[in-house]
Amino acid sequence: MSDYFLKMNRLPESEILSMMRKFAEEKKVPIINDEGLVFLLFLVKTRKIKRILEIGTAIGFSAINMASLDDKIIVETIERDQEMYSIAKTNITNAKMADRIKVIFGDALEIDDEQLSRNYDLIFIDAAKAQYIKFFEKYETMLNNEGIIFTDNLLFHGLVGTDEEIKSKNLRSLVSKISDFNDWLKNNEKYESVFFNIGDGIAVSTRRKNG
Ligand SMILES: C[S@@+](CC[C@H](N)C(=O)[O-])C[C@H]1O[C@@H](n2cnc3c(N)ncnc32)[C@H](O)[C@@H]1O
Repeated sequence: MSDYFLKMNRLPESEILSMMRKFAEEKKVPIINDEGLVFLLFLVKTRKIKRILEIGTAIGFSAINMASLDDKIIVETIERDQEMYSIAKTNITNAKMADRIKVIFGDALEIDDEQLSRNYDLIFIDAAKAQYIKFFEKYETMLNNEGIIFTDNLLFHGLVGTDEEIKSKNLRSLVSKISDFNDWLKNNEKYESVFFNIGDGIAVSTRRKNG
């Protein structure tokens, strides 16, 4: 998105969000980019989303942004890194949102499901990219009938879907796993998915009526 359009789109602003942006940049913590965030918040607003599950909290930036849109929005967000978890908790308390954003510590593929309230209007998958199929399969059962699953980083900095030679073996393997997820999602008969060339590549999936 051009800088001009980014300026035309108003994102939530607060002292704490500015500090978090700065922190993420300085400490190289990956957070959703502005273009992806504009799109995510647009969906939350227009679909009147109130119950959100996020997989991958980091410092709580996207969670606080989503919860900033409406006092009735609740977010449950899962983080497996102890340091990120602690920082997110502090940020959420400072943003005075601890009553609406619950951070759950643990690996999203291993945590006890009893900690989750289910019936989500939105599931935002933003954790280890190699595990996207597993996250999707585990959590789709907790989605409301009309809910959406939002997956980010499907182009992985433009490396997915190109013939560009990737030297690093680990990176090649990750890119191949994301590409496998994209194909799996495209062919998933239970969900209708639309892929957007927005941010780092986003898919929005909704349950098919006969799915
Ligand atoms: C891209 S960051 C999340 C950014 C955040 N959603 C935002 O935009 O502000 C991904 C986070 O997912 C966490 N993570 C990765 N795999 C995970 C897993 N299996 N369970 C829980 N958290 C995980 C990482 O520790 C990292 O903090």
